[in-house]
Amino acid sequence: MCLPSQQLSLIHELHLMLSLCFSWQSQAFPLIFLDLVDLKEFCKSQGSPEADDLNHWDITFWSERFRESKYELNEEELRPYLSLPRVMDGLFNLVNMLFGINVEPADGLAPVWNHDVRFYRVNDSSGTPIAYFYFDPYSRPSEKSGGAWMGGVVSRSRILSRDGANARLPVAHMVCNQMPPVGDKPSLMTFLEVETVFHEFGHALQHMLTKQDEGLVAGLRGIERDARELPSQFMENWCYHSDIVEEVHVSFALNQSAVDYSIIDGCCRNTLMKGIYQKLLAAKTFCAGTLNLRQWAEVLSADAFSAFEDVGLENEKAVKETGQRFRQTVLALGGGKAPLEVFVLFRGREPSPEALLRHHGPESVTSSA
Ligand SMILES: *[C@@H]1O[C@H](CO)[C@@H](O)[C@H](O)[C@H]1NC(C)=O
Ligand SMILES: *[C@@H]1O[C@H](CO)[C@@H](O)[C@H](O)[C@H]1NC(C)=O
Repeated sequence: MCLPSQQLSLIHELHLMLSLCFSWQSQAFPLIFLDLVDLKEFCKSQGSPEADDLNHWDITFWSERFRESKYELNEEELRPYLSLPRVMDGLFNLVNMLFGINVEPADGLAPVWNHDVRFYRVNDSSGTPIAYFYFDPYSRPSEKSGGAWMGGVVSRSRILSRDGANARLPVAHMVCNQMPPVGDKPSLMTFLEVETVFHEFGHALQHMLTKQDEGLVAGLRGIERDARELPSQFMENWCYHSDIVEEVHVSFALNQSAVDYSIIDGCCRNTLMKGIYQKLLAAKTFCAGTLNLRQWAEVLSADAFSAFEDVGLENEKAVKETGQRFRQTVLALGGGKAPLEVFVLFRGREPSPEALLRHHGPESVTSSA
C-alpha cells in the first residue's frame, strides 16, 4: 500500500537529497575522488586487469578487499571479550542511562517457544511496566541459523486494551543466531554481532517506547522505510564509542575477569583492546570510492547522534536530557507524525549531512587508523 502522504514525503526527501548532494559537492566530492584514486592503485597492485576501468560492481568488490587489507581485523579476535550476558547488561545499562527505562528479566510471566527464550519487562522510571519483549538468542540449526531480526508481537493499542481504559502494552521479539553457550562458558560474540544486537534493539525500542495509542501508527507502523532505520542505526553508534563503552558501564569489553587469557599472549590487553577499537572505527568509517553517504537514514542517524556529541558524550546530565528528548520524539511519536517533523522536534532543525561527513571524513580515518 502506498499512501499519498508517503509519496509526498518521498518527493520531499528526494528534493532534500538532491539539494544536499549539491551542497556536498565541495566537501564530499574531493574525498570520494581521492578514495577512487587509492582504490585504483590498490586494484593495480593486486594485478587486476579492470583497474583502469572500474565498474560499479568492481568498486563494491574492490572496496571490500581494500578495506580488508587496510584495516585487517580478524572478527574472531574480539570474541573472547564479548560474552552475550554482559553485552546485554551493557546494553540495558546504556538504555537506562539514555532513556530512563529499566529492563529486567520477567521469565515465567509469559509462555515461551523454547527453553532458551528469555522474557523481559520494560518499566518506566516510575516503576510502571510500559512494554515487554522476548529474546531468542541462540542459533538452532534445524529452525534458524543465520541473521538477526526484530518484530512486533502486539503493538500498543487503546482500542484493543482489555480493560478499555489503559492502552494494551506493546510486546516485541528479538531473534539472534548467536553461538550457544558451551558447558559453563557463556555465548561469545564477534563485534559485528554486538553491533547487530544494538541495531535490532534500536528497532525494538521504537516499538516499545511508542506513546501512540492508535495501533496502526504505533511504534514502527506507518513510518517510511528509510526513516525506520533511524533508531537502529542510531543505537549502533553507541557500541563504537569506546569512551562511552568504558564510562557508562558497557564494561563488557574490558571486563578482564571473563577473558580467556590463553588465547592472548603478552601483557598489554588494554592496549590491544584500544588498537582493535580504533581499527573497528576506521573500518566502519572507511568508504573507498563508494558513495556510502547515500543512505538517507545514515544522514538522520549520524545527525541524531551528533546531538549527543554536541553536548559532550562525557557530560552525563546533558546526555540524559538529550536521551529523554530522543525518547519523547523519535521513539515515541511513531507513524503519527511525518518523520521530518519528528526529526525537527528532536534536533531543532532539519537534518544536515555535516555529522555524516565528519564521521566519514579523512580525519576520522587518519586520526584513528
Ligand atoms: C517493574 O514493574 C513490576 C510490575 O509492576 C514490578 O514488580 C517491578 O518491581 C518493577 N521493577 C522496577 C525495577 O521498577
Ligand atoms: C565481569 O565478568 C564476570 C564473569 O563473567 C561477572 O561475574 C562480572 O559481573 C562482570 N563485571 C562487570 C562489571 O560486568
